Amino acid sequence: MIDFPLVAVVLAAGKGTRFKSEKPKVLHTVLGKPMIWYTLYSVRWIKPQKTLIVVGHKKEEVINAIDCDGCQFVYQEQQLGTGHAVYTAREHFKDFDGYVLIVNGDTPLIRGETLHNAGEFLKALVRYEGANLENYRGYRNKSVAGIVITARLPSPYGYGRIIKDKDHRVVKIVEEKDATPEEKQINEVNSGIYIFYAPYLYQALEKLENNNAQKEYYLTDVIDILRQEGKYTYTLEIPDYTEILGVNDRLQLAGVENILKERYITFWALNGTTFHNPQSIWIEFDVDLSKDVEIYQNVMLQGKTFIDEGTVIEANCIIKNSKIGKNVRILANSYIEDSEIKDGAVVGPFARIRNNAVIGEEAVIGNFVEIKNSIIGKRTNARHLTYLGDAEIGEDVNIGAGTITCNYDGFKKHKTIIKDRAFIGSDTMLVAPVVIGEEAITGSGSVITKDVPDKALAIERNQQKIIENYAEKRKKKYEKKD
Ligand code: UD1
Ligand code: CA
Repeated sequence: MIDFPLVAVVLAAGKGTRFKSEKPKVLHTVLGKPMIWYTLYSVRWIKPQKTLIVVGHKKEEVINAIDCDGCQFVYQEQQLGTGHAVYTAREHFKDFDGYVLIVNGDTPLIRGETLHNAGEFLKALVRYEGANLENYRGYRNKSVAGIVITARLPSPYGYGRIIKDKDHRVVKIVEEKDATPEEKQINEVNSGIYIFYAPYLYQALEKLENNNAQKEYYLTDVIDILRQEGKYTYTLEIPDYTEILGVNDRLQLAGVENILKERYITFWALNGTTFHNPQSIWIEFDVDLSKDVEIYQNVMLQGKTFIDEGTVIEANCIIKNSKIGKNVRILANSYIEDSEIKDGAVVGPFARIRNNAVIGEEAVIGNFVEIKNSIIGKRTNARHLTYLGDAEIGEDVNIGAGTITCNYDGFKKHKTIIKDRAFIGSDTMLVAPVVIGEEAITGSGSVITKDVPDKALAIERNQQKIIENYAEKRKKKYEKKD
């Protein structure tokens, strides 16, 4: 997306002291993914030649959690500040006649498009400013050091404030802890996202000092250093300030998560999904929705979940890494994980479906039914209080209330096969491995341990005894005792 030489550096070495956590800050999750995942996604969207991630605090943990093909890690042994972090990576852009994009790893809401626009803005500055158009080809305005993305925050507290001259060039960036009361009034703040001309950045990094309130090497100081040499940094002020929000504590994490959720819900709502009480709905990055899907309150859609046209998800359902077909109804309080529900099926209320279960077209899986690693055929019903695990169930089968596949013998899992049109009486225990034939019937309350042939009845039950007048006899027995 960026058509000039660019190396990206993502800063992720900090401890995140304000999180008060054993877990490194950038691994705290936003909608189910480590916050740094989003930053990296946007950075990679513009396709830099190289992406470097500066890690330090609990680096092994961070490296293991980041799934970033082709990214390289740079180790910052001591976290002496953002300037020091970039300094640590400097060998990667030594003698590089291109640009360096720097992004804080704790800014997950930045959009790839915005990074792309920043590149375009920089190109315009470098090529055109002060140049006459005949010789612009190959021309580089040597007075441009780079750009910084900024925004105006309703409450700028905690951010570096942007001080500019009358020509809109950045004079310096002042951190909250170093700012005068007047400077604190400024609400245009530093996003922590910059693009600098690599040779300028490289030499300015050598000159950084740590004489400030936090005794840190501030990356922002390179701007002032370069300005004094007549090399200027410009601002790209973006209209949506939420993109630059940094996450320094758990409250900010929650705030950012809500904003991201709202973005996704806005996107899908405008693409034809109805959300009832959208504030209560959780929806993650990899979710994909067709049109005319209807979702009620407190639903969580997680991981790679796809929901096809006309499907309704009632309140309080969780659906994770699953594929839901067309015109399916998932009734309230159901939990579906790593499974597939085919067109027209009805699931729930209070159903649990997990571990590669496949529910066939128009099947009905009712209340308090758990289905694990099983295939349920078309139009098959299991409407009440049932456990089906490691089973293969055909079409038009009826599973009576309370049926259980006894699939585990304490050592191994075994398979239950129930063929088309079989009728499983209520409270049947199917001791696996076992096969129930086509149109076979099991009597209620039977413990089935042997295969049942097609069309046969299997019944395993003692003859019912009738003892006349038993109630009277029982009463007398107690009277004697008293
Ligand atoms: C920084 C900016 C501030 C800006 C804000 C935007 C500086 C000096 N300040 O402040 O102007 O408004 O971001 O969110 O740059 N990191 C390292 N190594 C270190 C220190 C930090 O890799 O030695 C990483 C952190 O993991 C983090 C990022 O750099 O991802 C930013 O560090 P942080 O301490 O959060 O900076 P802020 O105080 O937020
Ligand atoms: Ca920060």
